[in-house]
Amino acid sequence: MSAAIGIIGGSGLYEIEGFEKAEERKIETPFGEPSDVLVGGTLAGRQVWFLPRHGRGHRIMPHEINHRANLWALRSLDVRFLICVTAVGSLREQYAPRDVVLPDQYFDRTSRREHHTFFGKGIVGHVSFGDPVSAGMRAILKDAATAEGAKVHDGGTYVNMDGPAFSTRAESEANRQLGFDVIGMTNLPEAKLAREAEIASATLAMITDYDCWKVEEEAVTAEAVMEHLTANVSLAKRVLARAVAEIPEDAKWPEHRSLDGAIMTSKEFWPEE
Ligand code: ADE
Repeated sequence: MSAAIGIIGGSGLYEIEGFEKAEERKIETPFGEPSDVLVGGTLAGRQVWFLPRHGRGHRIMPHEINHRANLWALRSLDVRFLICVTAVGSLREQYAPRDVVLPDQYFDRTSRREHHTFFGKGIVGHVSFGDPVSAGMRAILKDAATAEGAKVHDGGTYVNMDGPAFSTRAESEANRQLGFDVIGMTNLPEAKLAREAEIASATLAMITDYDCWKVEEEAVTAEAVMEHLTANVSLAKRVLARAVAEIPEDAKWPEHRSLDGAIMTSKEFWPEE
C-alpha cells in the first residue's frame, strides 16, 4: 500500500475537484485531541487526510492548537507526506499579498517548546533540523504552483511568533533586519513534529499582508488576512490537486528516516520484548 498524504490547512480545502470523500475519523492521541476530525478520501488515486488547523469554524487560537495531537493523528493514519497550507505576513517588498512562498528555513520565536516535541518523559531524542523542509515536497509544490499560474517565491525564512496579537512595528523592523522573509503563528511546530514523526513535509504559504513595517500600507488586520486567504482558496485547491498526483508512493526519502541516530535514551530503558 502506498503511503498516505496529509494536508493541514483551512477548513473547506478538501472541497477539491476530484477528491472523493470517504470518511471522517475522530482520533484519540496520547497528547489529547486534534483540532478536529480528519477527513479522508482519495485524490489522484492516493489516500489523503485533511485536517483544519484551527478546527471547523476557526475556533482554535494559534497558541491553543494541539500540534502534537494533530501530527500524531496524521502519522497514525500512515501519513508520510505532508503539505501545510498557511497564511503569512510579508517582511519583504517583493513578496506581495496573494503571492505564494515556499519557505525553506524557520526561526523559532515560540515559547511553548515543550509542546513542540514528542520526546520527553524519560525518552530523550534530538532530530536533525538544519534543513527543516523536505526538498522533494518543496520541488513538487513549486512545479504545481507555477503550473497553476501563481507568483511563486521558492525559499525564504519563516519566523514563527506566538501571537495572538500581531507584531509591533519595532518587532516587525527587527524581524526584517534579522533577514526573515515571512511571519506566521503556526507552521514551525508542524514542521518540527513532522520531522520527529518521519513525515516529509513542505509548506504552501499564502501571503496575506505586509505585517506592519510598510508604513504607507494599512497595518495587518485579521480581516485583511481572511480576505486574501479566501481569494486564494481556489488557487490553493488547484495546486494541491496537481501536487498530490506527483507525490511518490513509497516513503523512501531521508526525512522518512529522521529518527536514525536521534534517540539518546539507552536500550536498557525500553521494556523487554
Ligand atoms: N499570518 C498572516 N499574516 C500574519 C502576520 N502579519 N503576522 C503573523 N501571522 C500572520
